[in-house]
Amino acid sequence: GGFRVLRWTWRLTWVSALAGLAYVGYGIYETRNPVDQPPPHPSKKTLVVLGTGWGSVSLLKKLDTENYNVIVVSPRNYFLFTPLLPSCTVGTIEHRSIMEPIRNFLRHKKAAVKYYEAEATKIDYEKRVVYVNDESPIKGDVSQTEIPFDMLVVGVGAENATFGIPGVREHALFLKEVGDAQAIRNRIMDCCETATFKDQSEEERKRLLHMVVVGGGPTGVEFAGELQDFFHSDLKKWIPEIQEKFHVTLVEALPNVLPMFSKQLIDYTEKTFKEETIDIRTKTMVKNVTDKYIEAESTGPDGKKQLERIPFGLLVWATGNALRPLVKDLINQIPAQKDSRRGLAVNEYLVVKGTENVWAVGDCAVANYAPTAQVAAQEGAFLARMFNQMAKSQDIEAKLTELSEVQEKAPNAEARNRAFDEIKDLQKRLRRMKGVNPFEYSHQGSLAYIGSEKAVADISWFSGNIASGGTITYFFWRSAYLSMCFSTRNRILVLMDWVKAKVFGRDVSRV
Ligand code: FAD
Ligand code: NAI
Repeated sequence: GGFRVLRWTWRLTWVSALAGLAYVGYGIYETRNPVDQPPPHPSKKTLVVLGTGWGSVSLLKKLDTENYNVIVVSPRNYFLFTPLLPSCTVGTIEHRSIMEPIRNFLRHKKAAVKYYEAEATKIDYEKRVVYVNDESPIKGDVSQTEIPFDMLVVGVGAENATFGIPGVREHALFLKEVGDAQAIRNRIMDCCETATFKDQSEEERKRLLHMVVVGGGPTGVEFAGELQDFFHSDLKKWIPEIQEKFHVTLVEALPNVLPMFSKQLIDYTEKTFKEETIDIRTKTMVKNVTDKYIEAESTGPDGKKQLERIPFGLLVWATGNALRPLVKDLINQIPAQKDSRRGLAVNEYLVVKGTENVWAVGDCAVANYAPTAQVAAQEGAFLARMFNQMAKSQDIEAKLTELSEVQEKAPNAEARNRAFDEIKDLQKRLRRMKGVNPFEYSHQGSLAYIGSEKAVADISWFSGNIASGGTITYFFWRSAYLSMCFSTRNRILVLMDWVKAKVFGRDVSRV
């Protein structure tokens, strides 16, 4: 008897393994061979979406594309998972692991979506037209054109703030896009190699190996942490000559770093940085940048101000966001936006104030939330739900008009009553649909990596808050970001990169 049970269990295990394999195989086949997409019906409204970042892509993810004639315009033909971008600057993660091609993603939508790799250069609100330019290196006969819209979603994000400080654009590197991370990675290696050049003076070595980060927000803190990790676990092993001089300094104008985190986590971060030998220079405001040093004004404990020169080999500038020219121009076209400074003011349905049929999401919109991926993603998903419902209500409204005609022309009382009942049903559904609740942001918490396998987290828990920092938080940080990655493909690639960096170390070649 026992033997039979064992045999059956064995068979059952095999069958389920085979079924699982077939399921995965079919999934892969389906992903690799998407079915044909029908073009949208010509009667549908044209919905133009600008950008392929957190806001726009989260909208496109949830949007039923059969309901609209959807056109996406963005100079970047991929989505970028920004939370792991600081890891790309030192090669813990390769940049392609956190990029998801927009073409693959759109190809899997139910109805066809048009994508143009171009930059929107101007939105003409009066004419309901967007002007677009192909800014890529390869241009055809046509590289400028216009796209009319019925509905427009602006999700173009923000630029790097420099506050007009001289020399920043020329001499500093930013950390916002893939190209920035690659430039930083190369610059780090270049500084190390040049510092070890024959006959280099001690002072010049010191300068070249001084890595300065300006801005103590999460971008600056995460980058400083990653860089120090890179030094500890790889650089100093492969290039022992740099060990004495390599140094990371974080410069922040305010009295502390990470202002959005709780006091306890700020202290924890500052303590960890001290242990990692990262210098934090708070109350230090950078005023001028040259190719070899920054000039910063620091306030001493006695309140006295002092101007000093800080030489650097690498300078990374992470002082937050500024408006894009496209957004500035749109603000100037709309009288209701005359007081908008930080972005397009939107109402509780994310409609750009003073417009009809123009919505804004993410870093270019101001809805009293921090400019984060978390906010942008929730805003995008909200718009998708609203647009899906709007389309459904429009369908019902059309059906209602049809039914009232049927009712009028009904040959007898029975047919009239049937139409009447149907109308009542549809009106009820329509009322339910039109009751869309306004956008409400639900804060899941703030997370940041601070180096040496430690992270800090302020997590919202029911109505309270949990603040934690350390190695367990770091594993939480890793699993949270892994689960948030855009696709299974991204998840697998990131996981492989982590293993690769642990086993072989990070790649120190300069390309
Ligand atoms: P973006 O994601 O920046 O996308 C803007 C899109 O618009 C891009 O595709 C761009 O190519 C396109 N575009 C630009 N100009 C034009 C134009 N003229 N016409 C058409 N398209 C245009 N937030 C978090 O919540 N958690 C984190 O851990 C986190 N980590 C971050 C780490 C780094 C290094 C950085 C830089 C940011 C991080 N953020 C994080 C913030 C987050 O990335 C942004 O808040 C988020 O990207 C905003 O989304 P968005 O859609 O508004 O803009
Ligand atoms: P930020 O705006 O958060 O911080 C910039 C910092 O630079 C400020 O503290 C400011 O005081 C300082 N600063 C400005 N000018 C200066 C000067 N001249 N000299 C010295 N210091 C100066 O910018 P950041 O870090 O780029 O973040 C942008 C947005 O992205 C934020 O909303 C942030 O929350 C989000 N983000 C979130 C992350 C996370 O949750 N892990 C990671 C990265 C970004």
